[in-house]
Amino acid sequence: MRLAVNIDHIATLRNARGEQEPDPVAAALLAEQCGAAGIVCHLREDRRHIKDLDLARLREAVTTKLDLEMAMTGELLEIALKTKPELITLVPEKREELTTEGGFDIARHFAVLREFLKPFSAEGIEVSLFIEPDKKAVDLAREAGADLVELHTGLYAQKELDNNTAPELQRIREAATYAKSIGLRVVAGHGLNYRNIGPFREIPEIEEVSIGHAIIARAVFTGLDEAVREMLSLIQ
Ligand code: PXP
Repeated sequence: MRLAVNIDHIATLRNARGEQEPDPVAAALLAEQCGAAGIVCHLREDRRHIKDLDLARLREAVTTKLDLEMAMTGELLEIALKTKPELITLVPEKREELTTEGGFDIARHFAVLREFLKPFSAEGIEVSLFIEPDKKAVDLAREAGADLVELHTGLYAQKELDNNTAPELQRIREAATYAKSIGLRVVAGHGLNYRNIGPFREIPEIEEVSIGHAIIARAVFTGLDEAVREMLSLIQ
C-alpha cells in the first residue's frame, strides 16, 4: 500500500503568521524523499491553507504524483486544467466546515458531474471521487466516469473513540472489494492516524492511503526536540 501525504497543514501553519515558513513545497519534497508516493493538496474556495501560488510551485516541484483535491466549481476546473496534476480528487466542500465532512453526493449531482469530468480525461488527468464506502456510490462513481474512488474513512476514525471500528471497517472492505471488481482503482483517506491505520494493511484492494493531519501533527513532536536543541546551541 502506498502513502500519499497531504501537506495542507504546513500551509495552515505558515498562514498563521502570514510569512514564508514553513514552506509546503519544502515539505512535499521531504515527504517524497522519505518515500511518499504522492503529494496531496486541497485548494479550497476560501484559500485557507494552500494558495494558488503554492499549487503552481508544487506542480513544478513534485515528481511523484500531484493530487489536487478540489470542489466541483468552474474556477477550480479552469485551475486544474491549467495546472495539470496527475490526479484530481473531487470532494464536496462547505465554507463553514473545518475539514471535508463526508463523501461526494454523486446521485444529487450526477448529470453535472459527468459533464464536469469529461475535460480531465481529454487532458490525461486521472479522476478520483471521494465517496462514502457503499456499493451504490461506487456504481455511480464508475458511471460518472471516475478512474478511482477514494473511500471516506472519517467515520471509521471517529468510531475509534467508542472502540467500535469493526462495522465501519467491514463496510470499507466490502466497498473496496466491490469497486475493484467493477474495474475501479481504490484508495482511502480521512482521519487515518498512527493508531488506526493497521487494519488497512489487510485490505489488498486499497492501493494507497491519503494522510495529512496525523503526519503533520506527529512531525511537530518528532521534530521539536531537535529544533529546541539547535536554537539553544546558537544562543549559548
Ligand atoms: N482525503 C480527502 C478527500 C480529504 O479531504 C482529506 C483532508 O483534506 C484527507 C484525505 C486527509 O485527511 P486527514 O488530514 O484527516 O489525514
